[in-house]
Amino acid sequence: MSKQLLVRPQKTPLRGVISVPGDKSISHRAVMLASLAEGTSVIRRWLPAGDTLATLATVQALGVSVQIDKKSDVAWDLTVEGAGLHGWQAPKEPLNLRNAGTGLRLLAGLLVGQLFPSMLDGSTQLRKRPMRRIIDPLTEMGADIVSQNGRSPLTITPSQLQAISYRMNVASAQVKSAILLAGLYAQGETRVYQPGPARDHTERMLQVMGVPIRTEGDWVILPAAPKDGWVLRPLNLTVPADTSSAAFPLVAAAIVPHSQITIASVGLNETRTGILEMLQAMGAELRVENEHSSGGEQIGDLTISFSELHNATVQGRTVVRGIDDLPIWAVAATQAAGSSQVHDAAELRVKEVDRISVLAGELQKLGVDMVESPDGFAISGPMRLFSNEVDSHDDHRLGMSLAVAGLITHGLTLVHDANCIADSFPGFVEIMQSLGANMEWNE
Ligand code: S3P
Repeated sequence: MSKQLLVRPQKTPLRGVISVPGDKSISHRAVMLASLAEGTSVIRRWLPAGDTLATLATVQALGVSVQIDKKSDVAWDLTVEGAGLHGWQAPKEPLNLRNAGTGLRLLAGLLVGQLFPSMLDGSTQLRKRPMRRIIDPLTEMGADIVSQNGRSPLTITPSQLQAISYRMNVASAQVKSAILLAGLYAQGETRVYQPGPARDHTERMLQVMGVPIRTEGDWVILPAAPKDGWVLRPLNLTVPADTSSAAFPLVAAAIVPHSQITIASVGLNETRTGILEMLQAMGAELRVENEHSSGGEQIGDLTISFSELHNATVQGRTVVRGIDDLPIWAVAATQAAGSSQVHDAAELRVKEVDRISVLAGELQKLGVDMVESPDGFAISGPMRLFSNEVDSHDDHRLGMSLAVAGLITHGLTLVHDANCIADSFPGFVEIMQSLGANMEWNE
């Protein structure tokens, strides 16, 4: 049964030092790539969220042994017995990636390289999302994929792969990764052109595992495999806290008067830090401390304090580097003086839901003046929000954005269909409560 989240006006500041769960993008990739390594990988602070658990179950269904040490409800340590690039076993049933677009698209890139057939499927929500963007390049590489009019389920029949040079017309890390992962099994050098800085966790992880991927301008290049094929070294990795999960408490503290919070060990990969710049452009007081690098990724502590915000415009490369964080940035924009605008973000329309029109509809229920455009939106602020009943539409980031908006309304806000928050951020409510936030599950 779907749970509701109750949020009351926040009359006291949010304060404290917290950590948020591990990065979702890195957690998906770590368990997939570790399962194909030669040897045993250790992945600490792995994210046990709805999406990543679907990927873990898939890897297990492919015959890989994973030992799980549940350090807490939001951080697991995994020990993965790598099967080698050709060591997966044929799955007995269709692989169900539930709501996980990243899981399905990246696994498609790996499964087209296997010697057994497979079928990739997901929830009703995932079945609506566009798959041509991976089917086209993978088919060009020689893959045999049958889809339902460009949607999942995808049926994959084994075939020989040839490397390609491919120009993506959207800056998508999922598409880039699917091609590069298929490239591990292809003959020749794989080249992918990205029209913007799509997140590069796949490239960084493969480099750490011994695959010399390089970039030349906006091209990412995977060299031809050595004569006996690639051998992936096992991972020994601590997953950084997810930048996009950190975005929710960050915005909450930026808009609730007199708040100040610190979030420890957050991923600061520059393909992900658009949200920090988007908040600073509005005048948010945000500091980065203790910066260092680990497992090929930048990490640091973030401290943010409440301040008066003003309008900002987000467009171009910053959008790509903060694509998942635009819904929560929109909530900050409701408190910023003037008209805040987003351009070049048409990709938001093909996420878990159409995040422009669904967000506009739900924020309008709270009285927000949000106007849609084909590739973005405009929000006028600052304004006091009304309380109301709103709905996540089974989209985790919309559910959390609406919960944070609820903190600055006049009365009780009810977020319906809020279970989905655990797709990326298990423990969201408890972590917000630890900062003093006035929200609770309506059991
Ligand atoms: C992801 C890439 C992004 C992002 C998604 C996770 C990834 O999608 O929106 O939440 O882990 O590769 P696209 O790069 O396809 O836009």
